[in-house]
Amino acid sequence: MKAMENWNTKVLPSDDESIAQAAALLQAGEVVGFPTETVYGLAANAYDTKAVAKIFKAKGRPQDNPLIVHIASLDMLSPLVSEVPELAKKLAKAFWPGPMTMILPKSDRIPDAVSAGLSTVGIRYPSSETARKMILASGLPLAAPSGNLSGHPSPTTAAHMLHDMNGRIPMIIDGGECEVGLESTVILVKPDRVRLLRPGGITVEMLEEICPVEVDNGVLHAVAPDAKVASPGMKYRHYAPVAEVTIVEGSLPAFDRYMQQQARDGVYAMVFDGDEKGLPVPALPFGKEGHPEDQAYRLFDLLRKCDDLGAKKVFVRSPDQSGIGLAVYNRLLRAAAFRIVKLEDEE
Ligand code: TXA
Ligand code: MG
Repeated sequence: MKAMENWNTKVLPSDDESIAQAAALLQAGEVVGFPTETVYGLAANAYDTKAVAKIFKAKGRPQDNPLIVHIASLDMLSPLVSEVPELAKKLAKAFWPGPMTMILPKSDRIPDAVSAGLSTVGIRYPSSETARKMILASGLPLAAPSGNLSGHPSPTTAAHMLHDMNGRIPMIIDGGECEVGLESTVILVKPDRVRLLRPGGITVEMLEEICPVEVDNGVLHAVAPDAKVASPGMKYRHYAPVAEVTIVEGSLPAFDRYMQQQARDGVYAMVFDGDEKGLPVPALPFGKEGHPEDQAYRLFDLLRKCDDLGAKKVFVRSPDQSGIGLAVYNRLLRAAAFRIVKLEDEE
């Protein structure tokens, strides 16, 4: 690991001059950190196997976990895939640019390093202006995973990304806080329906306006390490702070009583705004109850804060699973390694 920490990582504002510098680095086969509307990504030329290898090295990412490819116009799509099914066209029209990644049959131009040997490739057309400008300035489709060290929460600010990548990459473009805060919705496109592999900002309810949606078992359930999964990313523990995270189901009074038993140094509670009163441990407010957008926006920052605070255990009130709440719950399940406590209400 030490050998690669030799960059003096620059954090530059998202102006035209910095974007031109980023584009030059990408064309020269280097990696660059950049903002999107979901999370920060670590980009490289998707056609350049050596450049793509630098992404895996900087993140410490397992080689069998494929990367998604970012485009900034529909014209960029056809060289990357072997076909564009009618349903994919409809979904693109409805949700691109935006936080949706479609898994499609790949073309021969996609190197194995990007697809991890699969016959498919994930394509995303981000809505972030900085992301789009960077893709257009480089003139390249950009392979980019989230810009965290493998296993850490995805970065939603340039500071998060610098924390993980300082010395490991030449540059990060700072576009401020990411609007959504959780990674894109990943769907496998079938002829007449889609399979949801990772929930995100384009919700099941939104997709259902276009076609039927099957939710993959891996969205809400742990998969065995040796299981054959639709999306390799499902296998890995994710988004985990050093602290042990537990999801707690039940009413607020039941939660408060439970926290009385758990209270000791290093224990924190992630609760909805306004529910901090009467808690015997420090609270990390998690957005208003029933406002899953707030929770999506704050989740990864809070998980990183847990590490800054030296938290040993964090108990989280289980959020609502509708809309983007399903994505919040999916990330929390992984942060908690599927640890859930169900509380009964007292008579
Ligand atoms: O919002 C996002 O999607 C961010 C920003 C930077 O665009 N990117 C991102 O990439 O979250 P990453 O690599 O951290 O997550 C991509 C997920 C992984 O779980 C991966 O396993 C899955 O998508 N994936 C990629 N290609 C796939 C494929 N061909 N088939 C199935 N799953 C795939
Ligand atoms: Mg990731």
